[in-house]
Amino acid sequence: MEIIASIRELRNSLNNQGHIAFVPTMGNLHDGHLKLVDIAKQHAQCVVVSIFVNPLQFGPHEDLANYPRTLEADCRKLQAAGANIVFTPSVKEMYPDAVSAGEGLNLRQTMKVTSPPIANELCGASRPGHFDGVATVVAKLFNIVQPDIAVFGKKDFQQLFIIRELVKQFNLPIEIIAGDTVREPSGLAMSSRNGYLTETQKNQAAQLYKMLESIVLRVRNGTAELGILADAASLALKELGWDVDYVSFRNQTTLMPATSEDKQLIVLAAAKLGTTRLIDNIDFLR
Ligand code: PAF
Repeated sequence: MEIIASIRELRNSLNNQGHIAFVPTMGNLHDGHLKLVDIAKQHAQCVVVSIFVNPLQFGPHEDLANYPRTLEADCRKLQAAGANIVFTPSVKEMYPDAVSAGEGLNLRQTMKVTSPPIANELCGASRPGHFDGVATVVAKLFNIVQPDIAVFGKKDFQQLFIIRELVKQFNLPIEIIAGDTVREPSGLAMSSRNGYLTETQKNQAAQLYKMLESIVLRVRNGTAELGILADAASLALKELGWDVDYVSFRNQTTLMPATSEDKQLIVLAAAKLGTTRLIDNIDFLR
């Protein structure tokens, strides 16, 4: 397995590699990421994984500085998982036009992709600019790696949706494959941010998924209206001590608010336990 930090070297190495499957990550890898690598391996001879904590997708008061960086451990896991190339660019390599501003970076000169309005709903409502940052770095990574396929996790369903739009609307010849969410035995969706949870919070965290499961069951049984169920779940989570951002039923293919006609549904939620923001979702048919 090669570990490459420069775009030029990566391009040289990718010359004549045949089919390329790509898994973009921000590192601190867990079994959810390794599942995506496994899917990638089933689709191409050459699997490239990027590890880059993208400053452009973090808001001013988010966890960019503290985001867990565990490169050595990540590389060991990727080697064992059978990845061929790990791309680990610096911020300067990815954003040469960014200027240093004191301790931080001024990315205001950086050219960005503007996401469609759906990026301002759900997670985007409380994370302004987040999905523009994601779409921009993914577009750059796609241009650098030029993969045939790219694999993204369903846990970040809104992100997956926006990346599918990016590929469609910018005519990129890349097949996007979605990997199912990998869960702890408790049901908690695996996430790098789970590392921020205390032991007590970790025990509590599976409540988010359990709440979604219970309202999905009620939709399937036809017992109540979607809006009423979402509000009830939100209230119940608040009573359990969560700071709820949203619980929302959406149409799986458009991500628009679900109507009584929609059959392919997804329920998505975001809520904080202490200072840790967790997201989860369940897609289902009724
Ligand atoms: O899902 C992530 O880890 C990131 O948002 C991504 C897709 C690697 C872009 O930075």
